[in-house]
Amino acid sequence: MILLKPVYKCFSVAVSILLMSFYCTRIYSQQQLISSLPADQTRLEIRASKIDSILFLLTLKEKISMCHAQSQFSSPGIPRLGIPELWMSDGPHGIRAEINWSDWDYSDWTNDYITAFPALTCLSATFNPSLSNQYGVSIGEEARYRKKDVLLGPGVNIYRTPLNGRNFEYMGEDPYLASRMVVPYIKGVQMNGVAACVKHFALNNQELWRNHVNVQVSDRALYEIYLPAFEAAVKQGKTWSIMGAYNQFRGQHCSHHELLLNKILKTDWSFDGVVISDWGGTHSTKEAALNGLDIEMGSPINTKTSPRKAFDANFLGTNFLELVKSGEIDERILNDKVRRILRLMMRTTLDSSRPLGKINNIEHSQVARQVATEGIVLLKNKDDFFPLNPVKKLTIAVIGENAVKSMTTGGGSSELKANYEISPLEGLQKRFKNASIIFSKGYTSEDSNQNHTSLIKDALVTASLADVVLFIGGLNKNRGQDCEAADRDELKLPYNQDYLINELQKVNPNIGVLLVSGNAVSMPWISDVKAVLQTWYLGSEAGNAIADIISGDANPSGKLPFSFPVKLTDNSAHFFGELSYPGDGETQYYKEGILVGYRWHDTKNIKPLFSFGHGLSYSSFKIKDIKSDKKIYTANDSINITYTLKNTGSKDGAEVVQVYVGMSNSKVLRALKELKGFKKTYLGAGIQTSEIITIHVSDLSFYDESISNWNLEKGSYTIYVGNASDGVSEQINIKVK
Ligand code: BGC
Repeated sequence: MILLKPVYKCFSVAVSILLMSFYCTRIYSQQQLISSLPADQTRLEIRASKIDSILFLLTLKEKISMCHAQSQFSSPGIPRLGIPELWMSDGPHGIRAEINWSDWDYSDWTNDYITAFPALTCLSATFNPSLSNQYGVSIGEEARYRKKDVLLGPGVNIYRTPLNGRNFEYMGEDPYLASRMVVPYIKGVQMNGVAACVKHFALNNQELWRNHVNVQVSDRALYEIYLPAFEAAVKQGKTWSIMGAYNQFRGQHCSHHELLLNKILKTDWSFDGVVISDWGGTHSTKEAALNGLDIEMGSPINTKTSPRKAFDANFLGTNFLELVKSGEIDERILNDKVRRILRLMMRTTLDSSRPLGKINNIEHSQVARQVATEGIVLLKNKDDFFPLNPVKKLTIAVIGENAVKSMTTGGGSSELKANYEISPLEGLQKRFKNASIIFSKGYTSEDSNQNHTSLIKDALVTASLADVVLFIGGLNKNRGQDCEAADRDELKLPYNQDYLINELQKVNPNIGVLLVSGNAVSMPWISDVKAVLQTWYLGSEAGNAIADIISGDANPSGKLPFSFPVKLTDNSAHFFGELSYPGDGETQYYKEGILVGYRWHDTKNIKPLFSFGHGLSYSSFKIKDIKSDKKIYTANDSINITYTLKNTGSKDGAEVVQVYVGMSNSKVLRALKELKGFKKTYLGAGIQTSEIITIHVSDLSFYDESISNWNLEKGSYTIYVGNASDGVSEQINIKVK
């Protein structure tokens, strides 16, 4: 026996060398092949055989190890074969700072400062898919430079309630808009050999009780409202990974969900990528193994054992190994996971041709600034309050904590260590050199010794001395505001800002309000202020972008990606009471069904404070000559809607023309109208252009629960064309035969 051991060792080393050389030559010769055979199918087959040849080399233990974390943000490779680890990072609007191996503290590196891009509500508000692609390319480059293989984003959970603490990380209330914006983002990221990880699949529409709340929603709303952006991410964006959500849906946790993951995602949509759990979103070995989870992240570890073994305590660790060994779980289930993980590696770490990435370069700052400027929404502008002339010797009173507060820190997992962050006050000071800018905080979000009454008093004195008052407030990234792990308590502005704005306008009625938030707020003072700008979380370039808009260097063109209700119960989730939002502590029922956001406001005739798609310009636009190419269509047709857009004002600018479709004689309840197409066009002052928006007849289908499939009804449809959901210029009728 003693003699046999070294002999056996030599033998196994020889076998490994043999296998490795087989694997290397195969990879080499296959790479030669790939370049000479461009056909997609051939590529897929070659990749599959490569994956199989690696799979064949792996021990059971190695395969299991790949299915769970080895640290907070990485999962292991196969060291003996030189297969690299997978490194992941939040997401979704910048690459998060380095975090310790097995706790949540930051590692205090000095090379992890990054460009903070605007949050995704802002990106969505640009209604500009090609800008979304530039955003994706840039953030992908930053991820790549930081040696991240999986970017934990973008997020496309639908904006259902304005209280959701994480709405700022998502793309708004409309599934079509979110779909159009998410696809180019993913493509841009993945061009860098970095996987997008689209999150949180699915129905994670609130933070309160997010780890357990059991969502009950109709199939119709599921397919029409909550799944389309994920489906587009998979089918059109070809995302390489997806993150399962924390919450439950119909009694099962979404990170291991038979219907969502095995049936819909992996079977119906043919997703060939990796499902990654949300951090700590795994709850059972068997469910995780059988219901579609591929990599488990963020689960509790065994701190009593050696650090090398700590993560074996994960559900897909030792327990999984034992179940496969005993035959209780078929090894083919494990092999499918490993194949997916290897495929992800082929696309990322094992792709020797992927670019090297870049970080904090001028181009990234420019993209961040452009997204920020294009995303800012001018909600109200009485008497042409904005723009303010930067040449004039004005005294401008800037009031409000958000003029100076960092918004790249805080907010939960999306918090960033920005290379720089220009505050709104700094941006204004840089641009308005001729003005005298006087600042007063007015309110504070900190539990400090500062006396609230004296803050208000000081702000009122400051305002009274100025020609113009800019109040810069809104929400922030503190817990209970726009922040992960909790929801907001109310629609109204925090820290007594409503009172302050009211007092300010009394001492100086020449006042404009800038709201920094990723959520709707109520505005009881709306008729008493001259102008309102919705400025989101804009990242590194915040102050510059705000100054671009306020000075008129840029003409606002952002549109709201969600409705602002007048009061909370005007929002459909809240209209139906506590069981609908937030639920009874265990279960919640999405009683509004498909009538989310503007679909509800429109259909029930409940006027919002500001509607979905709304956004003003310093110019004015006219949409005319609206026509469809035919009057009668059949199922496979496209509908071409042509129109003339004219910039009728005196400033260059951009307008987003929006096409909504409705069917009044449907056999099921339908929203009055739904967004089916949009186009953003840049036009010089006085210029007009002919444009076309194409939609597919099949997009007019509804999800028919009686046949568990999409159903295209014959009959008359109304097409509404305009520049906001409540700004329809004209409607035309068509028929589907
Ligand atoms: C969040 C994810 C995030 C992950 C890692 C979770 O708490 O829900 O969005 O990617 O943490 O930070």
